[in-house]
Amino acid sequence: MARIVAGVTSSHVPAIGAAIDNHQTEEPYWKRVFSGFEKSKEWMAKTKPDVCIVVYNDHASAFSVEIVPTFALGCAAEFPPADEGWGPRPVPVVKGHPQLAAHIAQSVILDEFDITVVNKMEVDHGLTVPMNLLFGSPKQWPCPVIPLAVNVVLYPPPTGHRCFMLGRAIRKAVESYPEDLRVVIFGTGGMSHQISGPRAGLINSKFDKAFLDNLTKDPKKLTRIPHLEYMREAGAEGIEMVMWLIMRGALDDKVEEVYRFYTVPASNTAVGHIILENRGRGSGFASRHKAPAKRKPAAGRLKRAAALAKAERIRG
Ligand code: DHB
Ligand code: FE
Repeated sequence: MARIVAGVTSSHVPAIGAAIDNHQTEEPYWKRVFSGFEKSKEWMAKTKPDVCIVVYNDHASAFSVEIVPTFALGCAAEFPPADEGWGPRPVPVVKGHPQLAAHIAQSVILDEFDITVVNKMEVDHGLTVPMNLLFGSPKQWPCPVIPLAVNVVLYPPPTGHRCFMLGRAIRKAVESYPEDLRVVIFGTGGMSHQISGPRAGLINSKFDKAFLDNLTKDPKKLTRIPHLEYMREAGAEGIEMVMWLIMRGALDDKVEEVYRFYTVPASNTAVGHIILENRGRGSGFASRHKAPAKRKPAAGRLKRAAALAKAERIRG
């Protein structure tokens, strides 16, 4: 059976991709951002997922305003990097997992999530930047990726609750796939940011940190945040955070937070990153570094010990 072992969130600021492509990662401004992902790359290298599902949003690269699917699942064999105005980023072509993707599409549609199946798609910074942050810059990405593009660009985006429930359906789909695959799911975008208008540059660290806390401990509370509250508190583009709830819905209710990083700003955005492992299922940091469980004394052994102690007292 396939299973989801962990969830990861990460901002996808395009300037992070430009800093990598232009060899600026050692500059102090960028070093602050990249150093926060060093441990995450170690974690990913140890976790070695067989497949990643990356929940992200397309920024008018694959879908123009002519067609805006709410949820679009990439079922193709590969997804080339999109040209976002400066030529395609020099990153490897993303290889898909058409079999698992088709299985997820079938399962979630029969569970009444009418997603769009996409058999040809280019992927933009929304997907490639988080891939760099978690995998570095290898010649080939180390595992296949199933992209799930969510509309958070054209009103109305899906609600946080809908996203969370889609995560639940994705988990059920993955767990009904017969092959033993270990899957990591990404929720990308966020945190607070606003790119244009009078409030451009808005960042709300208090909102972001509470969001991170609740993502681990009380995600259902987050599913009740209305769109207007995201806009007011986290800026127009802060709405990208509903995508994190798809990731969270796909995990256990109780998860282990194995890593968190928050820094302000990267370009216009607050960078938020968290790694959550499913308890008892993960094979990353938490499960490997857990103290061995104490052996529970069996009833028989306890009785024998009590009898021995009594004999000692009588002898003494
Ligand atoms: C920025 C952030 C985004 O999420 C995005 O899609 C575009 C730009 C920024 O901070 O500049
Ligand atoms: Fe974005």
